[in-house]
Amino acid sequence: MVEQKLQDTQTRALEEITRSDSLEELNEIRIRFLGKKGELTGVLRGMAAFSPEERPRIGQIANRVREKIEEKLDDRMAQLKEQVRKRKLEAETLDITLPGTVFGPGRLHPLTAVTRQIEDIFLGLGFSIAEGPEVETDYYNFEALNLPKDHPARDMQDTFFITPETLLRTHTSPVQVRTMERTAPALPVKIIAPGKVYRRDDDATHSPMFHQIEGLALDRRITFADLRGVLQVFARQMFGEDTQTRFRPSYFPFTEPSAEVDISCVMCAGKGCRVCSHTGWLEILGCGMVHPRVLEMSGYSSEEVTGFAFGMGIERVTMLKYGIDDLRLLFDNDMRFLAQF
Ligand code: PHE
Repeated sequence: MVEQKLQDTQTRALEEITRSDSLEELNEIRIRFLGKKGELTGVLRGMAAFSPEERPRIGQIANRVREKIEEKLDDRMAQLKEQVRKRKLEAETLDITLPGTVFGPGRLHPLTAVTRQIEDIFLGLGFSIAEGPEVETDYYNFEALNLPKDHPARDMQDTFFITPETLLRTHTSPVQVRTMERTAPALPVKIIAPGKVYRRDDDATHSPMFHQIEGLALDRRITFADLRGVLQVFARQMFGEDTQTRFRPSYFPFTEPSAEVDISCVMCAGKGCRVCSHTGWLEILGCGMVHPRVLEMSGYSSEEVTGFAFGMGIERVTMLKYGIDDLRLLFDNDMRFLAQF
């Protein structure tokens, strides 16, 4: 009787386990058959009804039934766990056969590349490279360049002041002064000075921070013709052998005479187009003969020494060279843009 009942319990338990298809269900079966209030426990509780001779035998059968059920539970649990794992893997969208992300070699930022090209041209003409601080004193940025405190030309170069006497330099021209103070009265002097400058400007062609390259050449008999020759060689090497240059009279407090230099339009070769506003010419820099007062303030005799200076915007040169129409693209650091150069 009881053997039959135990056998029954086993058969039903094994069937249910085989049919179960979740870990929760399996756990529920375990409790129902083997738990404290489970079926098998119930049978064993009824042992008192048997004679002492029969008890060990029934106990043995009951234990074997428990073992069988436990074994089956463990097997089924392992199967279900494997199923869950497989399903998870199948749901993964990761395709390990797809090619990976390739990181190519880096490249120079267009502004860095153009700065180096300009430097190379002037190094080839015998200039060397000088540097100066970006946080500059009023004296070097303005005063020593013949721009006293109340000078109207200061208005065009409004900038970021740190104290009333220190500011972010508005041009690279203070490096002229620092160089002259250091070298005077030695001759010749031939330097270029690339670097960052700052102004209170911000639109498609002006950024509050931009780059310039200054040039300065001093010696005993330097003339405007030398200035013209040097800048013509520069323009041809930078923009192509057919590039024309044109000097227009201009004004800077630190040069006399002063000029602005145009090159024939790089887009239309002087015929007139949108880029050059149909004039055929593009302005690229300011220049002139170093003002006698500037020479004297920095320790050179204006009787013996003459020289020229120029300053150009590197962003402007870069935009013209590559046909970029919005300066801000140079500072957005968007790889889709930068990777084109
Ligand atoms: N410093 C002038 C500017 O930023 C450019 C310049 C430099 C003009 C040297 C003449 C000589 O506008």
